[in-house]
Amino acid sequence: MDGPDPNLGKVVLAEDALQERVRELGKEISADYSDRAPLLVGVLKGSFMFMSDLSRAIERPVEFDFMAVSSYGSATRTSGVVRILKDLDLDLTERDVLVVEDIVDSGLTLQYLRRNLAARGPRSLEVCALLVKEGLQKADLDLRYVGFHIPPEFVVGYGLDVGERYRNLPAVYEYTGPSPT
Ligand code: IMP
Ligand code: MG
Repeated sequence: MDGPDPNLGKVVLAEDALQERVRELGKEISADYSDRAPLLVGVLKGSFMFMSDLSRAIERPVEFDFMAVSSYGSATRTSGVVRILKDLDLDLTERDVLVVEDIVDSGLTLQYLRRNLAARGPRSLEVCALLVKEGLQKADLDLRYVGFHIPPEFVVGYGLDVGERYRNLPAVYEYTGPSPT
């Protein structure tokens, strides 16, 4: 790509701010799970980059599993109707599950996930969300770990996409382009 992308607005979170916060979260999680090996459950695809960095900042044995979900509806808005596209491989019975999410907007995706995973009998179930959009959550989500609270604008980068683009950017940017359909 040549020149700056006209669809990208201001930097919301620079690379060094992201990396520093991820290291802090890793330390906190390492301390909280000092006597347990958490099972990290990544919600694809948006959390893959965060999960990769976060897991390397956790100085404890961890295990990984992934789940892919999709909300029906338009590209930049969730409808709250969640479909499981790829389920977990592992059994959650008696596991200390830590869900790793990229971003919480309305919270409807997470609310669905929490109920779904809680029904599988884990010993503990906590959530680590990198980003939470201010003021939009429709439910009390009980987020144990939060990276950053950000204004309610659409953002891309560090795993987050619009129409599968921009996931590889090392920083988080405001997206100012058209919404793809
Ligand atoms: P919620 O159900 O409204 O909380 O939406 C959560 C999901 O929508 C996230 O896991 C993302 O996949 C997607 N999403 C919400 N806001 C953004 C954004 O600003 N950029 C990219 N994806 C987003
Ligand atoms: Mg997405």
